[in-house]
Amino acid sequence: MTALLSTNEVVVRFGVLQAVSQASIEVHAGRVTGLIGPNGAGKTTCFNVITGLQEPTSGKVLLEGVDITGKSPSKRARLGIARTFQKLEVFGSLSARENIMVAAEQRRAWDKSGFDPKKVTDEILEKVGIADVSEFMVGTLPTGTARLVELARALATNPRLLLLDEASSGLTEEETEEMAALLRRLVADDGLGILLVEHDMSFVMGICEFIYVLDFGRVIASGTPAEVQANPTVQAAYLGTESVEEAS
Ligand SMILES: Nc1ncnc2c1ncn2[C@@H]1O[C@H](COP(=O)(O)OP(=O)(O)OP(=O)(O)O)[C@@H](O)[C@H]1O
Ligand SMILES: [Mg+2]
Repeated sequence: MTALLSTNEVVVRFGVLQAVSQASIEVHAGRVTGLIGPNGAGKTTCFNVITGLQEPTSGKVLLEGVDITGKSPSKRARLGIARTFQKLEVFGSLSARENIMVAAEQRRAWDKSGFDPKKVTDEILEKVGIADVSEFMVGTLPTGTARLVELARALATNPRLLLLDEASSGLTEEETEEMAALLRRLVADDGLGILLVEHDMSFVMGICEFIYVLDFGRVIASGTPAEVQANPTVQAAYLGTESVEEAS
């Protein structure tokens, strides 16, 4: 089966620093895939390569087997790639509804199916569970809720592939559980492929079917959560930061 997304031996060099080294990963539709690794491992840089914000020094990005390496971020959005950011990116002075509407309106530029942005926005507000705060200015909402607004905005472009950079960062335990339940629904009901960068090990291990571990830009291990946790190389990479075992 052709992967929804694959990166093929991606390399990113910043001067003398090799931030990503020959990283090959695959994301499949209907699955949550994890990308983990210590600080500075190259996770966000990988996301930037996939979304077109960072040109790779070498290597390729394929969407359903089609090479999209040279395409602009907006072209990739049209092809069905959406993301959230490690540092929350929302319009703080707009309401939750307006934040989502902006993306739904943008989608009209390429989606000629005649969908109603307002109706789409209402549906997403419900789906993500933020309908009750839809008229609040996002800058006044708690971090957890603002993260959901950012996720909702990503969904408004009707993506096939969703990249979430630290989705649970700043969330309470309860909010993290809600986030996990939401992601499971998106994968099961809508067949989305999700790639998740995450520091919260219990969240990652609980939700991902398959995990890649990056360290100094290299994929040092990959497999099921159980396989990754049992891997001595992974355990060594995490020593002194956080234990992958403790979180299980
Ligand atoms: N634009 C850039 N210019 C130069 N160096 C960069 C740039 N972006 C990232 N780096 C460096 O590349 C390495 C990988 O950074 P990246 O942000 O991808 O790591 P990360 O795995 O997302 O880390 P974190 O868990 O802290 O978010 C780091 O050493 C970082 O300092
Ligand atoms: Mg990062």
